[in-house]
Amino acid sequence: MVSYDPCVRPERDAYLARAWPDVRERIEFRSEPDCSGPRAGESVELLFIDSSHDRESVVAAFRAWGDALVPGAAVAFHDYDHPSYPGVREAIVDLGLSGEQHGGLFVWCAPGRS
Ligand SMILES: C[S@@+](CC[C@H](N)C(=O)[O-])C[C@H]1O[C@@H](n2cnc3c(N)ncnc32)[C@H](O)[C@@H]1O
Repeated sequence: MVSYDPCVRPERDAYLARAWPDVRERIEFRSEPDCSGPRAGESVELLFIDSSHDRESVVAAFRAWGDALVPGAAVAFHDYDHPSYPGVREAIVDLGLSGEQHGGLFVWCAPGRS
């Protein structure tokens, strides 16, 4: 798992202390914005977008990762329908994505293998 956040928050260590060591060692933190996208050769099965919640940033994040998604990959947008974050829904409309709402998540799946 790879996590992107340009702001290194002090809570991170407390969260990590709760994870099993073998889980912890499989998490890589990159102090970069999500729109940096993947490194060369990386592919993604699950993309969770929960960073800046304004329309342009959500669109930019999705586009930055689009080419790295494997067939059938899931993209989950957090805070969908949240009254404080209308940009998430607006971005999904802009991107023309059809998916499913699960609580506060909107989930879209990339086309699968034919
Ligand atoms: C709502 S919090 C969610 C964090 C995490 N998903 C969680 O549940 O603990 C949003 C985080 O996104 C970070 N953030 C804001 N803009 C970002 C961006 N463009 N790329 C990556 N992270 C960003 C903020 O620093 C903040 O820590």
